[in-house]
Amino acid sequence: VATFDSEIDLLQLRTRTSEKWAKYPEQILPLFVAETDFPLAAEIADALHRAIDRGDTGYAVPSGLGKAYSDFSVKRYGYRVNPEYVFAVPEVMVGVAEVLRVLAKPGDRVVINPPVYPPFFATLDEVALPIEEVPLKQEGDSYELDFDGLERALADGVRFVLLCNPHNPVGRVYSRDDVFAIARLAKQYDAIVFADEIHAPLVLPGAEHTPFDIAASEIGVRAISFTSASKGWNIAGLKCALAIASSEWGVETLKKLPEEMPERVGHFGVIATIAAFRDAVPYLDHVVRHLDEQRIALRLLLDEYGFERIRYAPPQASFLAWLDCNELGLGANPALQFFKGGDVALYPGLKFGSQGAGFVRFNFGTSTEIIREALTRMKAAASQYA
Ligand SMILES: Cc1ncc(COP(=O)(O)O)c(C=O)c1O
Repeated sequence: VATFDSEIDLLQLRTRTSEKWAKYPEQILPLFVAETDFPLAAEIADALHRAIDRGDTGYAVPSGLGKAYSDFSVKRYGYRVNPEYVFAVPEVMVGVAEVLRVLAKPGDRVVINPPVYPPFFATLDEVALPIEEVPLKQEGDSYELDFDGLERALADGVRFVLLCNPHNPVGRVYSRDDVFAIARLAKQYDAIVFADEIHAPLVLPGAEHTPFDIAASEIGVRAISFTSASKGWNIAGLKCALAIASSEWGVETLKKLPEEMPERVGHFGVIATIAAFRDAVPYLDHVVRHLDEQRIALRLLLDEYGFERIRYAPPQASFLAWLDCNELGLGANPALQFFKGGDVALYPGLKFGSQGAGFVRFNFGTSTEIIREALTRMKAAASQYA
């Protein structure tokens, strides 16, 4: 029994109307999009209830975010962010797109490391910048950055690196050495790094998050980091994320974002994000404990349901399992077979790049009971198609 199990109830979850619960009809069990099924942190619920009670539903003023995040960062990562270097954006991906609109010239290439979060592809398309894929290297069940590939791309003139750390979907948390090595390469070739660190609050025991900021300011490379409370505290619908500068250059860059950016941020998002980083860290610790239990239990459960042939390395962060189903004989898109034959919605690995053929992304940010139900459904599908 994992930490939050007794507080998660499927019938109650089905009354939620967010994407996870509203996208598919009721017979489908959703484990696709990166929302968690945990109860909302009481500190966040209280802050939002109080705002509603006072009719506080106007435009956002994001002041207060910098201090709340800076204090959190000191305690969580041992690193003090200058509160004045923290800017609010509605979402991480809006932040990435808008900063690229400020900095990029037509034709500037951006490195990404697939398999990777699908909106990386979509967002770079949105700002019409060419993508340079430097795929992660698979070493056994683990994934590593391909530093030679990265250096080749940078030597070839690629101007931006869009890093995902912790990495979605493979769950890798880059070591301090890795983070510094990326920064040194970027410095050497005068590239600009964007570090998407949205999953960093959910780094699990055994791994340690190194904010890119630390390496950027030490090595003097140009970088902007992005993070948010949206994954750790499940408040993605409230629309508030942080773009963080590591130098005066970063501050000047972020000041060039569209003037209306603060008003585009959700007011409830700002209220909830401050409550999250400032008041709801014990809740986050509960989530981390639960996920730590679930990521280990998932291997045992896969075996129990006859999925010994699914390869799975427990992630170092967050609630996403990257399941290699290639040996099940379900083809390149097993998520489709699981959906059609088992009424369970997972993300197809192919959404994350061609490297994801035969994989599915399974969201285990839920109860043991729901994980068991998902595996029951997957098993029914697998026996039908294999
Ligand atoms: C790596 C990564 N970046 C960004 C996001 C989305 O964040 P936002 O809604 O703030 O754009 C997610 C959501 O799952 C994610 O996994």
